[in-house]
Amino acid sequence: MSSTEAGSKPVKKRVGVLISGRGSNMMSLVEATKAPDYPAEIVVVVSNRPEAPGLAWAKDRGIPTIALDHRTFRSREEFDDQLHRLLLAARVEIVACAGFMRLMTPELVANWHNRMINIHPSLLPCFKGLHTHERALAAGVRISGCTVHAVRHEMDTGPILGQAAVCVAANDTAESLAARVLAAEHKLYPQILRLFASDQILLDENAVITKHSFPESPAIFSPNI
Ligand code: GAR
Repeated sequence: MSSTEAGSKPVKKRVGVLISGRGSNMMSLVEATKAPDYPAEIVVVVSNRPEAPGLAWAKDRGIPTIALDHRTFRSREEFDDQLHRLLLAARVEIVACAGFMRLMTPELVANWHNRMINIHPSLLPCFKGLHTHERALAAGVRISGCTVHAVRHEMDTGPILGQAAVCVAANDTAESLAARVLAAEHKLYPQILRLFASDQILLDENAVITKHSFPESPAIFSPNI
C-alpha cells in the first residue's frame, strides 16, 4: 500500500465485486477491508440478479450497489459492455468475481486482463464448472479445496494466485463438503486479495510471481495420519 503525497492517508486499490446470489464471499471481502492496513476497498458491488441477497446486504451497509439484470439486455455483448462502463465509472482497479455465475465475453475478459480475479470451490484445474462438490465426491478425491485465480476467457481457468486445501471426510455429502470449502473460501479470498492489491502477488502475463515468503508448513494428509 502506498501513501498519498501528504503522507497521511493510505491509497487503497479500488475493487468492484461481482456477485449473482448469496454473496458470502463478497461479505468476507467487505469485512476484511475494514482493517486499516488492508490495501483495498470495495467501491461497488454489482449483481446480474437484482434479487440477490448479497446485493441487499451490501446496500444495507452503505456500499454502492448496482443491479444489472442480464435479462433486460438483448445480448451478452451488450450486458458485458454496460458492465465494463459501470466499472470504469466507479474507477474500479481490480474486479473480484465472487459467485458471479455468468460466462463473459472475450472482450470483457480482455478489458480486465490480469485485473480480474475469481474464486472457485475446487482445487483447479480439477472440477471446473458447476456441481464441483458432487463431482469431487464421485471422483473419490480425499482432498478438495478452493482456488483464487486470474480470469481468462475459458471458464474457471487462469493463473492460480492461491489455493486452500480441505480434507474430504468419509461421510461427507456435497452439502457438508461445500460448507467446509466455503469456510476456507472466506479465509482465502481476503488473504489473496490483500497480496494481489499490494503487489505481493504479481502477474507477468501467465506467470505468477509471489513476493511474500512461505512459512514452513506441514503437509495436509487425508485421512489424518
Ligand atoms: C462460492 O462457493 C464460489 O466459490 C462459487 O459460488 C459460490 C458463491 O457463494 N463460485 C463458482 O462456482 C464460480 N465458478 P457466495 O455467493 O456465498 O459467495
